[in-house]
Amino acid sequence: MDIKLTTGITLQTSKGENLLQALKKNGIYLVSSCGGKGICGKCRVRILEGKSRIASPGKLEPRDIKAGITLACQTVPRGNIFIDIPKESKLVIGDRIALSKSGDLLELLKFLEANISPIVRQITLTLTPPTIEDNISDLERLRRSLEEKDMIGMRFAHEFVSSIAQSLRDSEWEVTLGYTVGNDVVYISPADTKKDRYGLAVDIGTTTVVVYLANLTDGALMDTGSTYNSQMRYGDDVITRIVYATESGGLNELRDAVITDINDLSSTLLERHSINKEDVESVVVAGNTTMTHIFWGLNPAYIREEPYVPTVNFFPRWRAETAILKANPRAPVFTLPCIASYVGGDIVAGVLASKMHRKSEIALFMDIGTNGEIVIGNKEWLVTAACSAGPCFEGSGIRHGMRATEGAVESVNIDPVTFEPALGVIGDVKATGICGSGMIDAIAEMFLKGVIDQKGKFVKEIKTDRIREGFEGPEFLFFRDNSREVVLTEVDIENILRAKAAIYAGVSLLLKEVGLGFDAIERVYIAGGFGNCIDVDKAIILGMLPDIPREKFFFIGNACVTGAYLCLISKGLRQEAGIIASKMTYIELSVSRGFMEEYMSALFLPHTHMRLFPTVKKMLSDSK
Ligand code: FES
Repeated sequence: MDIKLTTGITLQTSKGENLLQALKKNGIYLVSSCGGKGICGKCRVRILEGKSRIASPGKLEPRDIKAGITLACQTVPRGNIFIDIPKESKLVIGDRIALSKSGDLLELLKFLEANISPIVRQITLTLTPPTIEDNISDLERLRRSLEEKDMIGMRFAHEFVSSIAQSLRDSEWEVTLGYTVGNDVVYISPADTKKDRYGLAVDIGTTTVVVYLANLTDGALMDTGSTYNSQMRYGDDVITRIVYATESGGLNELRDAVITDINDLSSTLLERHSINKEDVESVVVAGNTTMTHIFWGLNPAYIREEPYVPTVNFFPRWRAETAILKANPRAPVFTLPCIASYVGGDIVAGVLASKMHRKSEIALFMDIGTNGEIVIGNKEWLVTAACSAGPCFEGSGIRHGMRATEGAVESVNIDPVTFEPALGVIGDVKATGICGSGMIDAIAEMFLKGVIDQKGKFVKEIKTDRIREGFEGPEFLFFRDNSREVVLTEVDIENILRAKAAIYAGVSLLLKEVGLGFDAIERVYIAGGFGNCIDVDKAIILGMLPDIPREKFFFIGNACVTGAYLCLISKGLRQEAGIIASKMTYIELSVSRGFMEEYMSALFLPHTHMRLFPTVKKMLSDSK
């Protein structure tokens, strides 16, 4: 059977295969937040010709169904079919992943007083050339020379040994060896040449994958690359991925997807700089606990089951060939340690990059991405928790929610008299959906202008055609043209309030656990790609961020990859990452007394207790 697309491409499909599977098999990926369960309503396609069996219309509105829209994961063709894939259904790479500049990172290294000390160490050896009287083997000669320098018990991989006969003679018996702390020899090169030394720092996010290529001789950041994590084809959040890995036996598929992403990015970077993969001598990887487990092919099943135990928190230094990475196969891979099932190496890396663990002031670190992780503390102590906010700020579970890519509404202003919205859309194109910062703006604006009440419900007395009764109940229409509408429904608002309440309640509870109030926070670090686009004022009106002086907030971008880079360059910082992970106290919010109470109070705009939000209270009374 054929699937013909409006783009002119024709694909083959097998009997019984749904459209989502058939498109995926042919390298065409749709947004599939729920992993193909028919729940999220994101994998919309339009059938123009042909018959199909539709298992469920899911969340589709009657007008969508009338227009031929169907959910790809619920639609099995019954013969040749002709379809159109709307722009908002296509999984596209975002262009808003904040990446660092080399100068900034070198400054940071200087500030941290970090020496350049890569994972692979070097030793130069001058060997006595063999004679008829001294004709021990090449490897024994190398070992003998190492033992003379008290280096005993070095391990030599087969591929290394297979190259030494030539290397030793070409270098006239003067060589430099690269080796690891575990005594694995990584490479051999002539002693008189200045060997190029490169490394990769990798951030494996649930949504995005970022790779930094660094020169390990001077610490310079040479290039960066980023892409969406291809695991998104299997669902948006870590829970859906764990379910796919365990219940559907898809662990290898998930692992292959992310390894391919990392290798594709690395290949581009290496080609751009004419670097041989053999010269990539070390790799550092940071990610949340689930992503790290999947990267290493470890079963993540028990992360999700009570008592929530990961297989590993402190990872051994495995080699690049075990991970099948594009690097010297013997290159050691340092994995940032994880804290618990839902606080991973990405947070350790973020704390390291923020430097909060070195200062006396009490700081709050927030990573608001696919989930919400928070850390509070200073150089004496650190406590952490995961907020299970869910991926709604990434667009998941929101009718017209999408990531911050072209066509996403990212800012909203509402006229206080006419209630007409003025929209900021990424790429200055027609709106196709709304991203996290747009959602925060929209709700804050609707609340300030009296369109919704403290519970997030539309105020009946407001007279505007923008509020209408939709398929799922009342909704506010932000944009409409012939082919597309963008709305926020009351159900969407409820979901967003739940997510923000989880974040605020998490911070509030962590502070209570250590006997402090919001006024004790001297600095707030906001990490994560999404965090960079947040309007702090609007996020405070929403009640997601605490109402404290605005000058205390600092955006630190992708702190995870910055932390991974720091560990790639410096031995001291690798050790520091280990210390951060060991001393961080994890608090399991789901079993914590008082969390539910905090959460329920935070479900309002901005909060049940307005005294906690004095500046919002003032804004509201000024606007009356
Ligand atoms: S509804 Fe099809 S992937 Fe979610």
